[in-house]
Amino acid sequence: MSATVIDGFSVAASVRARVAESVAALKAKGTHACLAVVLVGEDPASVSYVTGKAKALAEVGMLDRSLHLPASTTESELLAIVDGLNADPSVHGILVQLPLPKHIDENRVIMKIDPAKDVDGFHPVSVGNMVIGRPGFLPCTPHGVMVLLEEAGIETRGRHAVVVGRSNIVGKPVAILLANRKYNATVTVCHTGTKDLASFTRQADILVAAAGKPRMITADMIKPGAAVIDVGVNRVEDPTAKKGYRLVGDVDFVPACEVASFITPVPRGVGPMTIAMLMENTLLSARRAAGEE
Ligand code: GUN
Repeated sequence: MSATVIDGFSVAASVRARVAESVAALKAKGTHACLAVVLVGEDPASVSYVTGKAKALAEVGMLDRSLHLPASTTESELLAIVDGLNADPSVHGILVQLPLPKHIDENRVIMKIDPAKDVDGFHPVSVGNMVIGRPGFLPCTPHGVMVLLEEAGIETRGRHAVVVGRSNIVGKPVAILLANRKYNATVTVCHTGTKDLASFTRQADILVAAAGKPRMITADMIKPGAAVIDVGVNRVEDPTAKKGYRLVGDVDFVPACEVASFITPVPRGVGPMTIAMLMENTLLSARRAAGEE
């Protein structure tokens, strides 16, 4: 068998195109959707993500109120900046790029963001709304995973989904969304404390790999015909690559293609969906601010 490779790059491009149309329509009615991305310090992966976000904002026609602060920024300075953005009615979405420098308490910063502008979906109010199925903001990567499953026509209802990884950003929310009535999957969450991981992954009709370990899911851990969603983004050394590294997922992609029915690649799989869903959340926030939702 050779799996169908799900093209997240093109699904994300069509999401952005749809968002761009709505941004223009909303702007014509007097509301220009605006996102503020706050980056503290120079973490290379964060700088690269933030550059991607700026590019997407330009593409969908949103205002970009991003701030790049020095690594020496104190927690109280950052909290005051978030407060200023909360109070500014022209800003519809606020995203503080993680990880933050060690001297800043990430939870305190996330909790400072007005839940009405929490387009990242990380605030406890957003998490709570997601868990109980109330309107709010869904976290971008998990939401992107759901959209990819839908776009690829992968049935989730009544199927067994196994999620490898329990992070607050991906593993836990993906498991919660899959178990919601809308998707109606039976969900197992595996993590570093799981004994005999392969005995669980081999039962998965839908396998979501979100552990952050390069190529840890090998072909023998996949049930024949499963849909495999790889959320891992790992830098591995590669002297032949221009930057000296390349990106691989948590799944050993080439052999996995011989076992799975559907698979997402890394790069160009789940990754581009994260930014596309961020654009969608910012549009949603702007529409709410304009009284349209
Ligand atoms: N760092 C890596 N991914 C993310 C994300 O989705 N949001 C934020 N705020 N920081 C990140």
